[in-house]
Order: sequence, then C-alpha cells, then structure tokens
Amino acid sequence: MTAKPRLVITRRLPPSVEARAASLFEVLSNPEDSVLTPDQIIERVERHRADALLVCLTDRMDAALIGRLPAGLRIIVTYSVGTNHLDLAAARQRGITLAYTPDATTEATADLAMLLLLSACRRAHEHQAILRSGGWGAWNAWDKLGTDPGGKVLGLVGMGRIGRAVAKRAKGFGMTIAYHQRNRLSPDLEDGAVFHPTLEALFRASRIVSLHTPSTPETMGQINRRSLSWLPDGAILINTARGDQVVDDDLIEALRQGRLAAAGLDVFTGEPDFDRRYLELPNATLLPHIGTSTVETRDQMGFDAIANLDDFFSGRQPRWSVA
Ligand code: DGY
Repeated sequence: MTAKPRLVITRRLPPSVEARAASLFEVLSNPEDSVLTPDQIIERVERHRADALLVCLTDRMDAALIGRLPAGLRIIVTYSVGTNHLDLAAARQRGITLAYTPDATTEATADLAMLLLLSACRRAHEHQAILRSGGWGAWNAWDKLGTDPGGKVLGLVGMGRIGRAVAKRAKGFGMTIAYHQRNRLSPDLEDGAVFHPTLEALFRASRIVSLHTPSTPETMGQINRRSLSWLPDGAILINTARGDQVVDDDLIEALRQGRLAAAGLDVFTGEPDFDRRYLELPNATLLPHIGTSTVETRDQMGFDAIANLDDFFSGRQPRWSVA
C-alpha cells in the first residue's frame, strides 16, 4: 500500500470536510482553530513533512513565508475564491502548484450581495436599530422610506462567476444590469447586460453598484472620492469582494454627507480590525465577511479543495488550478 500524501490544514474546517481529508491524506489539523503565525505554519509543515498545505484567507502566504517552505511542499490549496492572501509569483518561482475553490463560493456570495442590496434599498438595518432601541412609534406614511430596486440600473464591477450570479438574481427584482471589466463578455455570458468600457461610464449610468472584482493592484482603492463622485446622488454601494478596493475615508465621508444613500459591506480593509467609524453610520449595513457562510457552501468549498489535492496526487492538474 502506498503511503498517503501528507497534508497540513491551517484552520479548522467543517467536520465532513475534515473526515474526507483524513480518509485520503495523513493530516495535521488545527482543532484549536487559531490563526497560525508564519513561524507556526513553517513549523507544522516541517514537523509533518508535508507534501501539501491547505490554507484559508486568514493565512498571509507572502513571499517571505513561501520562501521558507521546505522543498518537499508541492502544492498549496486555498479554501477560498480570493487569492490575494497568496503571493502567486513567489509560489510559482518555487515550483509550488496552486489551487483554489472558485466554483463553490458563487451562489452564496451572490445571495449575500442581494441581501445587502435589499437591506440598503429598504434601510432595513436602520429600521431594525430603531426597533431594537425601543423607538418603534406608530406606523407612518412618510418617514425613512427606502427605494425600490425594480427599475434601477445595477452596475456590476466585475462580471465573473459571482457578478453574473448577482445579475441573474437582480433581474428577478426588475433591475437593469450594466457592467464594467477589462474585457467585454461574449453575448451569451453578457445575457443582456450593458457593457461600459470604463468605470466612470458604468458609475454615471448606475444607481446601485456592486463590487465583484478580485483584489489586484488595479482594483485596490478603486472606490475613492473621485469614483464616488461619478455616482448619482442617492446611489448605493455593495461590497462582497474585498475591503481594500474601498478607500474607507472617502466612502465614510460620502455616507456621512448622505451623498451616497447607503452601503452594504461584508468585507473590510484590515478585517477583523475594520474602521470603527462605520459603526456610527446608520446608512451602512455591515456584516463580518460571511459571503460563503452556509453549511452547504462551506462543505462544498472543502470538498473542492480536497478534489484539487486528489487530482494533484493522482498525477492530474488540479481541476481548479490558479492560472
Ligand atoms: C472567498 O472565498 O474568497 C471568500 O471571501 C470567503 O469564503
């Protein structure tokens, strides 16, 4: 019988995922679920003589850390669609194969974008705060009214898997879909969405904007004073992508002034140590990065991560290789 490949898993994963991993690999897991320091990651990989490493978005796999990994480490799989916590170039230079779990995350993240969009449109967070603080007065016909998503243009920044899944849902609410990304999609993928060649053109045409771009040097800080000024008064911003795409000072100012009607944010720069000024804004719905946080999705992400590893150790290209 050939020995099982040796795998280090940096964080605790759903029980069904850990059980499947244990059936295929010799696993060193992290039942305490602490976020490991770089030294701890290296120590575990060395102690376990690992062939493979399964990481999460809380593991900052920068060039220095990747440079210290022992030569026997052949593949890193991240339990995420985002890869901004991995220095891809450094891993490639070391000849380490990289894989991720993009498929499983799509529907739950799109659902969460719609939850934030509807919450922002209907000021749900603001109304809930009034109810919880005992301020619910008699029903009235005029105060703190929201806005209908129906009939509005939803501008999607990024029209990959998740952007398209949001488009599908938003159409069900009677929204018109527009998008911007570097390359225009083929008509079948576009599915009636209007392409804008620049972010400025998209923002000028949209009432609600939702971010679905990966974190890259080009998208970092793309929501800033200048780009926010392209949005019409009363616009709404949704972010389920990554926090570093937003300049917090500029977004907070626009929300404070009421130039932006509302924002729905699931991701933050520096999370979990996000900018606490957001807490003072009644027009911001804030969630702690729960885009993929459903039983079904988290299980599937794990099974996909394991499928990548299984492919690799069976001599195939992982089915979700990072390009
Ligand atoms: C991802 O997969 O990148 C999400 O942000 C968290 O699951």
